[in-house]
Amino acid sequence: MRSIIVSGPSRLSGSVCVPGAKNSVLPIFAASLLCAGTVTLHNVPRLSDVSAAAEIHAALGCTAVLAGHAAVLCADGMTACDIPHTLSAKMRSSVFYLAPLLIRTGRAALSAPGGCNLGPRPIDIHVDGLCAMGAQVVQEGGGASALVAPDGLHGTDYTLRFPSVGATETLLTAACAARGTTVLRGVAEEPEVVDLARFLRAAGADIAGEGTSRITVRGGRPLFGTEYTVCPDRIVAATVLCAAAGCGGEVIVDGCPAAQLEPLLTLLRRAGCVATTLGPRTAALSSDGVLHGLGLVQTGVYPGFPTDMAPLLGAALLRADGMTVIRDTIFSNRFACAAGFAELGANAAASGESLIVGGACALRAACVSSPDLRGGAALVIAAMMSEGESVVEDAQYIDRGYEDIAALFAPLGAQIETGCGCPCAV
Ligand code: EPU
Repeated sequence: MRSIIVSGPSRLSGSVCVPGAKNSVLPIFAASLLCAGTVTLHNVPRLSDVSAAAEIHAALGCTAVLAGHAAVLCADGMTACDIPHTLSAKMRSSVFYLAPLLIRTGRAALSAPGGCNLGPRPIDIHVDGLCAMGAQVVQEGGGASALVAPDGLHGTDYTLRFPSVGATETLLTAACAARGTTVLRGVAEEPEVVDLARFLRAAGADIAGEGTSRITVRGGRPLFGTEYTVCPDRIVAATVLCAAAGCGGEVIVDGCPAAQLEPLLTLLRRAGCVATTLGPRTAALSSDGVLHGLGLVQTGVYPGFPTDMAPLLGAALLRADGMTVIRDTIFSNRFACAAGFAELGANAAASGESLIVGGACALRAACVSSPDLRGGAALVIAAMMSEGESVVEDAQYIDRGYEDIAALFAPLGAQIETGCGCPCAV
């Protein structure tokens, strides 16, 4: 078990270049199964979830070579049509292989994907949309089920019951291979959906409307290998901004469209930080670490305040001189990190879908455990705000979305390193 060891409190200063986005590269990896020839990706973050995706490609008989921040993918020689359960259970993004496998082989096993425990994460919209394109659910032996589409998929006019990011990506990918035109209504507008559409277009797809609530795809065009640069990770950018807000300091975050960070910057300004945009892809934040509570904050789908940033903002506001209630409207168990915040001495509690924090408390070192990816990153921020040496255990969750969180913060002045084993137990 890996852990993150932090000696606080820290004041952060310096600049960070934002890496490629996890939630963009993973659906692109899966969509590459539909491309004939070689797909070369740049700005690929070195994350455990990306390694897991490469393992899925290998298990399917496809090539996925990771070198530095590039990936070279080729699915021409695909030999298998099922993802081993141990791999699909490793991450939520295994669900993105449903549509490509269905299209390539006429069948795709339906198994629950893994991923962070943020509450129930059904895949009914993925399945329902694929059925609207002509797929059928069939029961197989031992209680298992699969989607089949022996005659391929056809275009449709489909309205998502909720703008699910993942289901939008599944249906967008499927629509590229379906015969005829597909209109997807009520889709997610997140930047990672836009990035997938741009990748698919670079590979030869005919797509219009990404970034709005309606996407139109004229399907059936062959997709070819292409070269593509993955978009920046707005959640990593937000992690640095929230850390500087809570710890105090001055940071510049470079490479992420400032507009994507504006919902967070607006909140951090209200909390007392000075946050400016120095250019279309550069944001600067300075904070004296003494923040004000924000009252009620709600997450929402894009362009609302993102659910993934909610625990990070909660960490920044732990010592604020007033209360903040952050209500997540997307996931029911977003704030499992509240227990760790409390162990660090914060007035923090999760109640239903809300996190309640604040009240000018002094934070002191503790040994805490990452409950999930963003909750773990939030605990690292809280540890950097706390007096003494803290240990954040179960760093494997953090590794899903951060290349090396210690290497992200150490150049900014944090006393932070990666540890092995379970230092709290000795
Ligand atoms: N939902 C359904 N049925 C579906 C799909 C979703 O009911 O078929 C519900 C979910 O249960 C949830 C809500 O819709 O309550 C939102 O889920 P969505 O499908 O939008 O999220 P996701 O695709 O599972 C992606 C990111 C998450 C991010 C959310 C919201 C990936 C791999 N994951 O998840 O990222 O929080 O969108 O923006 O793209 C993370 O990076 O830590 C992370 C969890």
